[in-house]
Amino acid sequence: MAFLKLLYIVFLYSASAEFVWKHHNNEELPLVLEEVHQKCSNISRVYALTEPSVRHVPLYVIEFSDTPGFHQPYKPEVKYIGNIHGNEVLGRELLLGLAHYLCDQYLNHDRRIRSLIHSTRIHLLPSMNPDGWQLATNSGGKDYLIGRANNHSVDLNRNFPDLDAITFELERQGINHNNHLLKDLTRLAAPLEPETRAVMRWIMSIPFVLSAAMHGGDLVANYPYDESRTGAPISEYSASPDDDTFRDLAMAYATAHADMASTTRRGCHTTSSDESATYNFGKQGGVTNGAAWYSLKGGMQDFNYLATNCFEITLELGCDKYTPENELAREWERNREALIAYIWKAHVGVKGIVTDDSGFIRNAVVSVVNITGSVPRPIRHDVTTGAYGDYYRLLTPGHYEVTASHPGYFPVSRVVTVPRHQTSAHILNFRLEPTTSWFDDESTFGIYPHGLRDGQPRIYKRSLYQQVANTMLERKDTPKQ
Ligand SMILES: *[C@@H]1O[C@H](CO)[C@@H](O)[C@H](O)[C@H]1NC(C)=O
Ligand SMILES: *[C@@H]1O[C@H](CO)[C@@H](O)[C@H](O)[C@H]1NC(C)=O
Ligand SMILES: *[C@@H]1O[C@H](CO)[C@@H](O)[C@H](O)[C@H]1NC(C)=O
Ligand SMILES: [Zn+2]
Repeated sequence: MAFLKLLYIVFLYSASAEFVWKHHNNEELPLVLEEVHQKCSNISRVYALTEPSVRHVPLYVIEFSDTPGFHQPYKPEVKYIGNIHGNEVLGRELLLGLAHYLCDQYLNHDRRIRSLIHSTRIHLLPSMNPDGWQLATNSGGKDYLIGRANNHSVDLNRNFPDLDAITFELERQGINHNNHLLKDLTRLAAPLEPETRAVMRWIMSIPFVLSAAMHGGDLVANYPYDESRTGAPISEYSASPDDDTFRDLAMAYATAHADMASTTRRGCHTTSSDESATYNFGKQGGVTNGAAWYSLKGGMQDFNYLATNCFEITLELGCDKYTPENELAREWERNREALIAYIWKAHVGVKGIVTDDSGFIRNAVVSVVNITGSVPRPIRHDVTTGAYGDYYRLLTPGHYEVTASHPGYFPVSRVVTVPRHQTSAHILNFRLEPTTSWFDDESTFGIYPHGLRDGQPRIYKRSLYQQVANTMLERKDTPKQ
């Protein structure tokens, strides 16, 4: 009955097909998504996360893809999350506008948007904290804190499991276990809120590659880690193993935005002529490392990176938290290119499928050594293959040795060059040989398997990285002539 009623309202609503820039309330939000879906039913789907908010408001998502509802190998998945802090409202409206834009441009045969939707699965969650939004809106939207938290007064961007603490401890002990750390969690600092749990289940169930969460209150693209290593509350750069790639992702948004990266703009919150008293992120290209600004524990961004294969950054979209309604259309223009450019970033680096003779290998580990410079540098954050044996490894331009491995198989390493200006990741597939078949089969025992056949992946017993390292060690040991 409720569903029929919703359909009826959607029917009435879609008579006014033009998108209006305004603050859409919690009842209007799903209607906007349904309306887009009605218009673009072939390439979209509306769904709700597994659990609603504390006040039982469903957390709605709209998905764009040419196979809505299904993951496909070689097709990276991207998400945008708005309004995690209920009183930071711009992301929420931008995502509703983006949903309309993607649909309209697709129907208008915009080649760039068509190719983006054909090659990418895009999920938009306009509001992660509808209860906070309601409270902020009821109280006039002016306060810096009212409505920030959920209806249990919990800041959702502090409520995720603190996996930074685990990875920092492993680093200190020199243990190279660097991904999917949720299994290593032994206790929670605080109970998980329903909104957090819903988003965690979402993050863990879809093989996302790239993500951004939208906030307000400053103008900057912020990248991991958000938590400092020493516990310093501010000003301690906390680099992740993918620091270079994260910086590049943040820059992609900042430089495509109207003035996030402008070196001449004023910083937010500058009240006096003393600019040095506050941050002016424009002067540093519109990007910042999280902990270099201020450290936080339990954020969503670091959780994505440390629990899954997903790279997430945090976008602060403007000095105002509760953007005035008459500025929304202008803000859309200022963010539109950045929103699209960032989704394309899911197509940088390398991707591929890991198989054996009988099919896909799930949970194979794909590790990378950066061999661009004179010294090979392992990037100590591995990604893993999904249900179709597929992996996506975001990387900046350069030379890399990529190794696929799985217990019970010989690892395979291949060297690859990641070019500039990619709109599709370089495809690098791996076929692994089980160790058992090698040792069990008398006739091939002792023969280096398939090592040098043309067109076949080369199988190295030791990785190229070790060969290079050994060469350097040998050179050092050679006495001077
Ligand atoms: C949706 O799919 C149908 C059937 O394949 C096709 O006839 C129609 O043109 C498609 N519509 C759009 C908007 O792509
Ligand atoms: C929870 O929601 C109710 C109803 O909207 C509201 O009156 C109350 O102030 C909210 N509490 C908090 C802590 O947000
Ligand atoms: C790879 O190494 C080069 C040279 O040291 C460096 O400039 C680049 O940032 C590195 N790339 C990544 C993704 O770490
Ligand atoms: Zn925020």
